[in-house]
Amino acid sequence: MIMGKAKLGVLVSGRGSNLQSIIDNIEKGKLNAEIAVVISDVEDAYALERTGKHNIKTCFVNPKGFKGRDGFFDEIGKVLKQNSVEYVILAGFMRIIPLSLISIYKNKMLNIHPALLPSFPGLGVQKKALEYGVKYSGCTVHFVDEGCDTGPIILQAVVPVLEDDTEETLSQRILKEEHRIYPEAIDLVINSRVKIVGRRVIKK
Ligand code: GRF
Repeated sequence: MIMGKAKLGVLVSGRGSNLQSIIDNIEKGKLNAEIAVVISDVEDAYALERTGKHNIKTCFVNPKGFKGRDGFFDEIGKVLKQNSVEYVILAGFMRIIPLSLISIYKNKMLNIHPALLPSFPGLGVQKKALEYGVKYSGCTVHFVDEGCDTGPIILQAVVPVLEDDTEETLSQRILKEEHRIYPEAIDLVINSRVKIVGRRVIKK
């Protein structure tokens, strides 16, 4: 059976280097997907310059344009639906997703985190890992659940923490792995090559 391209909706707030790696993998034919829409909550996010270069539909949803968090996320849900999005890819989107939206995309919403979860959830984690003194860090792609960086883990990659590392050098080393494993994890999920057993994501 020939499968159609999976429709992705990518949520961003900033630089968009993970978005770029997804675009590149799609263009190289390594990821059988199309980006139906990129949604940003930041009007001048650099990620939107990237979509411009690749002719990808974008939508800025202004968080200030709504009374509360619910209205903002209802609008995001609407845009995803209007664009027939099947999988939601969080790529540096700096907001916690409410359960109302997560439940619509149950096991179809992915996030990438720049640490080896469950160590160092939350923000500023490369600095935290460095300060803690861990010898290894890395990145994690996981399904999104209602917690903060707590969903079932799809893939992880490990990098060493070197003695002369700064937050920047460690972040760069981790980012290189992010760009490798995020498209790989998306590929596993959109092709139904994983199943979730308890907390474990197992390759079929
Ligand atoms: C990445 O480090 C990602 O792990 C985290 O936010 C950062 C986004 O970077 N969730 P970019 O916008 O993809 O360049």
